[in-house]
Amino acid sequence: MQDLKAAFEAHYHNPVERVFFAPGRVNLIGEHTDYNGGFVFPCALSFGTYLLLAKNDKQTLRFCSLNMPETATIPLKELPQTKAEAPHDLPSWVNYPLGCIAQFLKQGYRFTQGYDLLYSGDVPAGAGLSSSAAIEVVTAFAFNSLMQAGLSRTDLAKIGQASEHETAGVQCGIMDQFASAQGKKNHAIFLQCNTLDFELVPVELQGIKVVIANTHSPHHLDSGAYNARVAQCHTAVEQLSTVHPISCLAELTQADFDTYSHAISDPIAFRRARHVVGEVERTRKAVAALKQGDITTFGRLMNESHISLRDDYEVTGKELDTLAETAWQVEGVLGSRMTGGGFGGCIVSLVRDEAINDFRRIVGENYTKQTGLTADFYIAEIGDGAKEICA
Ligand code: GLA
Repeated sequence: MQDLKAAFEAHYHNPVERVFFAPGRVNLIGEHTDYNGGFVFPCALSFGTYLLLAKNDKQTLRFCSLNMPETATIPLKELPQTKAEAPHDLPSWVNYPLGCIAQFLKQGYRFTQGYDLLYSGDVPAGAGLSSSAAIEVVTAFAFNSLMQAGLSRTDLAKIGQASEHETAGVQCGIMDQFASAQGKKNHAIFLQCNTLDFELVPVELQGIKVVIANTHSPHHLDSGAYNARVAQCHTAVEQLSTVHPISCLAELTQADFDTYSHAISDPIAFRRARHVVGEVERTRKAVAALKQGDITTFGRLMNESHISLRDDYEVTGKELDTLAETAWQVEGVLGSRMTGGGFGGCIVSLVRDEAINDFRRIVGENYTKQTGLTADFYIAEIGDGAKEICA
């Protein structure tokens, strides 16, 4: 923290007044279900994005980041409410915080005081662990406090999601921002994305760790592939609704799907829907198993989730598949699956303490042999959601 403060003061010649933090997330199970109204089960991580700030007397918002070289200064009078109104030469990272500030403007809040802002993130870049949600949520959390807006954590998650839709053009669900806003140390969030009702479930696994492995794959989840999946799910809902009216795929039980899925004439939409219906059910069963201390069942459902994301949702690819499929062969691994949007990014696994060294070695070596890339392994620490830290 002292390093961050020194960096702030060196950059702005202004003492830090307040410090905020919001975490990245890892999703244990329930993938590509959020924008289909289903269950997800993510946890906040101990790494995330710090935001240090202080008032300035310049009637501007000034942005800098320790992760990006570009800075920006925007007069309060010119703060954009939409991406189209934003200056075209803005560094792309600034669009994320600015997109959140725009949501406050749209809700009628007005800025009369300038601020200097410094961001610093320690979420591994490009890992699919929601570094952008952490930037959005830390911004929304800080401005909620500065403006005394009194918004709930769920409202702040919605602000982050709206910003992601507008800024990045990704029609994402609410999971990442919700986990970053509502996370709790040593708990996962069992969230029903239709209603935003949620339950914090303790994740205290005796002798087992949550291990994240990063593919460092050159493939990334792009907005095109993601938005195409969202559209295919809409197609499935439309076609199903001709025989059984529904507003989202998560409304279907497995039995409903078996009865009505003949109405989905598009074969791709059919497979996407089959994944979603199965994944919602798996997530419900996995949480029930965890509550009963049945980690074996939880792990098996994680493996089934990966297979469905690989074969029906088609969001894995060679790197994620090699990691997960190798992990399944290692003694002491209870379950392993891709986590997040897919294509590149990470897998998440439940590994017995005594198997962790073998896991790293066997999975790491085979991964390099198969792909020529080097994976990174982290033992996940489940942390709290967004918070203010004493400056
Ligand atoms: C990305 C999105 C989330 C969610 C996941 C897949 O992380 O931002 O809303 O859809 O992909 O589960």
